Amino acid sequence: MRQFSCFPVLAAGITFVSHVHGLVSNSSINSQTRIAYAGSTGMTVSWNTFSKIDRPTVLYGESPFALTNWATSDVSVTYNTSLTYNNHVKITGLKPDTWYYYLPTSLMKNDTSAGPYKFKTSKPAGDFDPYSIAVVVDMGTMGPEGLYTSAGKGVSPNNILAPGENNTIQSLTAAVHDFEFLWHPGDLAYADYWLKEEIQGFEPNTTIEDGYKVYESILNEFYDEMTPITTSKPWMVGPGNHEANCDNGGTGGYTASICMPGQTNFTGFINHFRMPSDESGGVGNFWYSFDYGMTHFVQYDTETDLGHGLIAPDSPEGGSEDSGPFAVADAQAKWIAADLAKVDRSKTPWVVVAGHRPWYSSGSICTACQEAFESVFIQNNVDLVLSGHFHVYERNAPIKNGTIDPNELNNPSSPWYITNGAAGHYDGLDSFTYPLQPYHRYGLSTDDGIYGWSKLTFHNCTHLTHEFINSANGSVLDTATLYRDHECGRRLWPKGESN
Ligand SMILES: *[C@@H]1O[C@H](CO)[C@@H](O)[C@H](O)[C@H]1NC(C)=O
Ligand SMILES: *[C@@H]1O[C@H](CO)[C@@H](O)[C@H](O)[C@H]1NC(C)=O
Ligand SMILES: *[C@@H]1O[C@H](CO)[C@@H](O)[C@H](O)[C@H]1NC(C)=O
Ligand SMILES: *[C@@H]1O[C@H](CO)[C@@H](O)[C@H](O)[C@H]1NC(C)=O
Ligand SMILES: *[C@@H]1O[C@H](CO)[C@@H](O)[C@H](O)[C@H]1NC(C)=O
Ligand SMILES: *[C@@H]1O[C@H](CO)[C@@H](O)[C@H](O)[C@H]1NC(C)=O
Ligand SMILES: *[C@@H]1O[C@H](CO)[C@@H](O)[C@H](O)[C@H]1NC(C)=O
Ligand SMILES: *[C@@H]1O[C@H](CO)[C@@H](O)[C@H](O)[C@H]1NC(C)=O
Ligand SMILES: *[C@@H]1O[C@H](CO)[C@@H](O)[C@H](O)[C@H]1NC(C)=O
Repeated sequence: MRQFSCFPVLAAGITFVSHVHGLVSNSSINSQTRIAYAGSTGMTVSWNTFSKIDRPTVLYGESPFALTNWATSDVSVTYNTSLTYNNHVKITGLKPDTWYYYLPTSLMKNDTSAGPYKFKTSKPAGDFDPYSIAVVVDMGTMGPEGLYTSAGKGVSPNNILAPGENNTIQSLTAAVHDFEFLWHPGDLAYADYWLKEEIQGFEPNTTIEDGYKVYESILNEFYDEMTPITTSKPWMVGPGNHEANCDNGGTGGYTASICMPGQTNFTGFINHFRMPSDESGGVGNFWYSFDYGMTHFVQYDTETDLGHGLIAPDSPEGGSEDSGPFAVADAQAKWIAADLAKVDRSKTPWVVVAGHRPWYSSGSICTACQEAFESVFIQNNVDLVLSGHFHVYERNAPIKNGTIDPNELNNPSSPWYITNGAAGHYDGLDSFTYPLQPYHRYGLSTDDGIYGWSKLTFHNCTHLTHEFINSANGSVLDTATLYRDHECGRRLWPKGESN
């Protein structure tokens, strides 16, 4: 209890201003429908309901007028303080690279505008057709509960939106036909920012005891905001410090202990998502891998389970998450080594990995993460390492154990490092630490006041382009292409072109 007295304003018991939040306006919460790959012949469909469903069921088919197949499960789960149940159904036995229409039966209405929705299954490994994906890290709630045209006390004017400026969810929505899936390696809703927002006077006053209502309200708002993207594009997520739920948005180490029941230890994250760890031998939503066409993607966990007694975060939060482990010691390290070792580079010449925290950065650096992961990435010839956590955009050089690859992007033998934590959320940009690191090649920070997302385009077996898209107006502010002289397997050219 002692920490409550640090916040006399919050402890004063000022009435929760209910109408501001979606929480008590049930009708404003929709189903939060989202999908995730489950191999190239499967898809997991997830959605939320106010009550538990005995047999969550999804109808699906190749025509919107003939949803003649169905898949079902017994997974309808919740946690204390949540208003909703998370329903998860894995559809299997699908054709790869094929459009399907689907509708959870509990969402069926006479109002046909509710669906059906549609998704496309993954291209199988070995398909060398070009494609793009979108990547965001540190993207949270937009609008009056998050990143908005105003903020609370002490927030830099560069960190709020200009009136009429598109936020990243709007920008991704506008571009939804330009990418196959959305990868989000951690820091999703920023619901734990409820406390920071309260302290800064942005949210209505509430009590510590009622804080969970604001927390849940922000979560629900965010998941609803994402549906224009997540009903049709798989949303592949990983763990970030704000899913641990005890960070409370940088309000100081001692507030880390304000962790409401049911909101600790990644509980919301575990309930809400089902990533393809069964298919890849990983653990939950924490570490897993999947193939899409010519690329092997690996999501790894920088928040827990670093192994060898390493503790993340080692900077700056100082191990405040009080979360995990989710497997026995060294399980993640052994899994990554085995997963990368068995990649068939003739089918997936590209290997792209993502974890929440960076270790090459002109700012936040996770040395425990570097110790845990860098050597296995080097040994297995990983092409690109993506991260966020630090709320800037920073494109670095390819680097091996601190040494800049002399080839830079022209056929390096070291992994390329890009941090993009600039997608946006309440108060969401950071400053670089100057002087910039020698490996820094391009950056945007709070000085620029620009939010944006990453677009990765796999052209073929040797060329991969990264672009930074400015969410405000959709312009491309940075483009860099990596050339790697991969062994190209059976096909060098896209389908339909002859040699
Ligand atoms: C939301 O709706 C559900 C189901 O109708 C109901 O049980 C619950 O009490 C409602 N919650 C609020 C806060 O109105
Ligand atoms: C759909 O409409 C029919 C006929 O008007 C009605 O009987 C039925 O209850 C409606 N179903 C739902 C789920 O609203
Ligand atoms: C802003 O977002 C909206 C909604 O997604 C979209 O229709 C519009 O084209 C976007 N504008 C720009 C300039 O990106
Ligand atoms: C919150 O409550 C405090 C103490 O009563 C008051 O000074 C402050 O103005 C209130 N803030 C808001 C945003 O209502
Ligand atoms: C949830 O609430 C119930 C009833 O108050 C309690 O028995 C249980 O321990 C709580 N679970 C968690 C995870 O806090
Ligand atoms: C978090 O959850 C995992 C899995 O249930 C459990 O093994 C671990 O002890 C929990 N950690 C904490 C700090 O509660
Ligand atoms: C990395 O560099 C450090 C010194 O900077 C050296 O001690 C270490 O052996 C190197 N590790 C590898 C795997 O080359
Ligand atoms: C691969 O794509 C790049 C970028 O579009 C292009 O310049 C190059 O010619 C392509 N290589 C082959 C073998 O098609
Ligand atoms: C988009 O924003 C960038 C960065 O602020 C600016 O340089 C560019 O001129 C803008 N483009 C358009 C078409 O408004």
